[in-house]
Amino acid sequence: MFKNDFPYFQNSKTIYLDNGATTQKPKSVIDSQVEYYEQYCSNTHRSNFGHANKATQEFEKVRTLLKEFINASAKEEIIFTKGVTESLNFIASSFAKDFKTVIISSLEHHSNIVPWHMQGRTLGNGLEVVNCNENLDFDMTHFEELLKANANAFVSITHISNAFGKIHDMEAITKLAHSYGAVVMCDGAQSLAHLKVDIQKLDVDFFAISGHKTFGPTGVGAIYIKEKYLKDIKPYQTGGATIHEVDFNGSTLLDSPYKFEAGTQNIAGVIGFGKALEYINHVRYENIENLEHKVFKYLDEELAKLPDIVFYNDISNTIGSRSFNFKGIVHDDIGILLDKMGVALRVGHHCAQPIMKKLGIKGTIRVSTAFYNDYVDVDKLIEALKRALIMLKG
Ligand SMILES: Cc1ncc(COP(=O)(O)O)c(C=O)c1O
Repeated sequence: MFKNDFPYFQNSKTIYLDNGATTQKPKSVIDSQVEYYEQYCSNTHRSNFGHANKATQEFEKVRTLLKEFINASAKEEIIFTKGVTESLNFIASSFAKDFKTVIISSLEHHSNIVPWHMQGRTLGNGLEVVNCNENLDFDMTHFEELLKANANAFVSITHISNAFGKIHDMEAITKLAHSYGAVVMCDGAQSLAHLKVDIQKLDVDFFAISGHKTFGPTGVGAIYIKEKYLKDIKPYQTGGATIHEVDFNGSTLLDSPYKFEAGTQNIAGVIGFGKALEYINHVRYENIENLEHKVFKYLDEELAKLPDIVFYNDISNTIGSRSFNFKGIVHDDIGILLDKMGVALRVGHHCAQPIMKKLGIKGTIRVSTAFYNDYVDVDKLIEALKRALIMLKG
């Protein structure tokens, strides 16, 4: 029913199950960007004529909307970026670089691994990784041992694993981390499309947000920074729109958020992202979570009936992504055949090579859902998988 709100589904018969990579965009998101470009295209926070003021107002309205959406305590805590990758890199290079130890989980996306490597950190040498059990659950006991052994660490953990859909209990993780003096960043790339986030309840210090994985445009996202850190954090880029006063001897910076948003922003993207948030408010998380859980459970039950399927976790504490393989079959071959049958999903390592290596596999077949996916999508996927298995096994 909600598919009618998304032009993609009117234009394509594809069974779209690659939401972990990017979600589809409702018409209101697309229209708002066209409207900006066609009717009031101007730069923000600079010129002082009608359209420029409107662009600034629309842009700033989204900051307030996002602040309310995640229940941040001030709009200055919301800084726009081009996505989670930029958000994580920003905090890694401008704030977390001075921490002796960074602690991450076993299920991290490369965006929350490679920036630490770029600082010269390797396992046991400035970087620690929390174990997970055979169901990919976060090992709290090991986490506490790491916190004890590494006072005042920087903890950076994904909220929902894009590869396996595992939801980390960020509230509990943060509480424990704070009790050992650690600071916590959360990679929320996969969060807002699936569940309600209350930043004050989670109590994380930094939270990275992706627009395009939340029914918004590509190239836009945000980083939430808890108010108490705003003054001390240095921008990792500076330039136009970040300064109060400049002469050849020095510059004084504006306060947050402006000191962090250097150069012309993705104005159309931010405006479109605002429409995506309004769209979620209209659908309501209650409905999103309810619809998605039902279809996700059905997906799991139907997949489990297929011969020789191998899962790496059950669906407890999981949403969005279901990953699997078939014994004796290369996952890439399934991807190629499913594409021919009009089913879009991702096969491979899902930018999470370390956990794939730990599991002794090269990658998986990943079905990643959003609330607009329905039982018919699952039936068509299963039909296509059965046909692919016959072709590959004979
Ligand atoms: C868990 C996770 N972290 C980070 C990213 C990167 O997000 P973005 O595309 O917004 O930079 C992704 C994207 O796949 C992701 O799934």
